[in-house]
Amino acid sequence: MNEKGLITYAERIHLAHQHLEKVLPYSPEIGIILGTGLGGLLKDISIDMEIDYRDIPHFPVSTVESHAGKLVLGTLAHKKILAMKGRFHYYEGYSMKQVTFPVRIFKKLGIHHLFISNAAGGLHPDFELGQSMIIKDHIDLFPENPLRGANLENYGPRFPDMSDPYDEKLIDKALLFAREEGIKTSVGVYAGVQGPNLETKAEYRYLGIIGADGVGMSTVPEVIVARHMGIPVFAISAITDLCAPGKIQKVTIADVLEAAAMAEPGMTRIIKQLIGEL
Ligand code: HPA
Repeated sequence: MNEKGLITYAERIHLAHQHLEKVLPYSPEIGIILGTGLGGLLKDISIDMEIDYRDIPHFPVSTVESHAGKLVLGTLAHKKILAMKGRFHYYEGYSMKQVTFPVRIFKKLGIHHLFISNAAGGLHPDFELGQSMIIKDHIDLFPENPLRGANLENYGPRFPDMSDPYDEKLIDKALLFAREEGIKTSVGVYAGVQGPNLETKAEYRYLGIIGADGVGMSTVPEVIVARHMGIPVFAISAITDLCAPGKIQKVTIADVLEAAAMAEPGMTRIIKQLIGEL
């Protein structure tokens, strides 16, 4: 409790963790956060248990209809995994502390690698619809940082290093595998923005100029919190709309989901391969 008698963030993490430790039949090794329209990897998981977010004390609950709101415990490529079916976006109204709450729980449960997928607009002029982009770095353009406020000293340092947020060995392995298997992908920098509107033409141009290859509304907060705790991260975007000058078109959520479905099989294979090799 804090001085006002209110339950603190650290206590909320503790209570959610305590609950999951009690109900989960075993400890997961790998955490997975699946993006919009990218739940197909779940088909490959041999599922042992599903836990509704609303049954976990203090866990946020999903608001977006296309997101289901469950933790999925099971086996993928012979590894014990815990996947989030439905993630929390800042644009939905959650605080950054809520958006990243599950990542804190992942760490407490013993997870030692985090895999993330998302949908992103393609800023690089060579990108094609339905390809993927392996994230090698990011630019944080969110208006709030998940580490703002008192530092959780037991989890990580006040000023965490961010010079290598995405695991280079995993990136190299992913590229090698994609090349061998003929999976269309690229490596690039992801700009994280709050949304929910897509960008203006001037904003897309600006994002390209500052060094981004893709832009999306998620992932950066979760990566910052994972790196605060020293968890290695692999993240990959489905390129769902083209945003380079001359290629910009009006996009609907249906277009985004259609292009995500095109990229998904290749992304799923890359993630499965990397998890199998861990
Ligand atoms: N901008 C921001 N987020 C996105 C986009 C985009 O063009 N496409 C998919 N997510």
